[in-house]
Amino acid sequence: MVKRVVASAPGKIILFGEHAVVYGEPAVAVAIDRRARVIVEERGDFEVRISAPDLSLEAGFDLERVLSEDSFSFFEIPQRLKNVVRAVEVSLNACNLKRGLNIEINSDIPPSAGLGSSASVAVATVAAVGKCLTGDSWESEKVSKLAFEAEKIVHGAPSGIDNTISAYGGGIIFQQGKIERLDIGAQVSIVIGDTKVERSTKKLVSHVRSICEKYPLIGLPIIRLIGSLTLEGVERLKTGDFEGVGELMDINQGLLDALGVSHLSLSRLIFAAREAGAYGAKLSGAGGGGCMIALMSPENAKNVLEAIEMSGGRAVPTAFSMRGVTVESEE
Ligand code: MEV
Repeated sequence: MVKRVVASAPGKIILFGEHAVVYGEPAVAVAIDRRARVIVEERGDFEVRISAPDLSLEAGFDLERVLSEDSFSFFEIPQRLKNVVRAVEVSLNACNLKRGLNIEINSDIPPSAGLGSSASVAVATVAAVGKCLTGDSWESEKVSKLAFEAEKIVHGAPSGIDNTISAYGGGIIFQQGKIERLDIGAQVSIVIGDTKVERSTKKLVSHVRSICEKYPLIGLPIIRLIGSLTLEGVERLKTGDFEGVGELMDINQGLLDALGVSHLSLSRLIFAAREAGAYGAKLSGAGGGGCMIALMSPENAKNVLEAIEMSGGRAVPTAFSMRGVTVESEE
């Protein structure tokens, strides 16, 4: 019987369509080579102990007590670990088992920065708990579906794009829970610029909702326009017209700015990247700070990277990754 499992899952960037995807429009997401790693060990009692040494966070609870109630009480669980608690709950329910576990989380994805850190932790947790308790490697679809329950704890009413790309890896067009694979190819590079300004996806999603409710004749057409732009972007990606892709990224940024989810720190890095010769640049994820992305030819990546650093951002070296959720080892 498997007693200790390590699973990992990637973070992501969104090339087109964030926020609009919450309203059923298509979006394009790509997995990156930064990952969350989760170690799960069986304990032999009914305690669950969670630790995230990178963040100096710990939490624990007794399954005997909490599972006798309808759901876990999140009382005294640090905010950043609540999704892990939920991921454990849904995974134990899916196994129909009650087992004490030690769970350790390590990640090289900056948290609260729009790179899908919480989703990748949830995805890796579900996969590791599933493998540890049943011996089976669950399908990406099942892992994603269970991790989505954990995402709701963090983001309120998320679209599901983050857990989906983290479970599947590669590139996807995501719309209303359905995915189509998309090959981005090696002819372009992406540079991520971290503004180092932390923000909350939940608040930004609710800001867009308030704009759409207050000005339905303005907010909702912008959302639809982002959807059309995304489909145009997909065509350009398929034909390798990266200048077109970059132009559409710039337009997408303008529309996100109109919805009020950009930030001065993002604008600085976005303009710096464009001036350094990027095909295009935009925020990625919920905005309000967090990360921006720029698309450029591989020869131009160094220029853009330096421009981002010179403008006060932290360039995050990254590459696309085909690898979705992975069970890395079991003992
Ligand atoms: C996801 O990274 C960003 C948003 O589109 C929210 C969501 O899709 O749930 C803003």
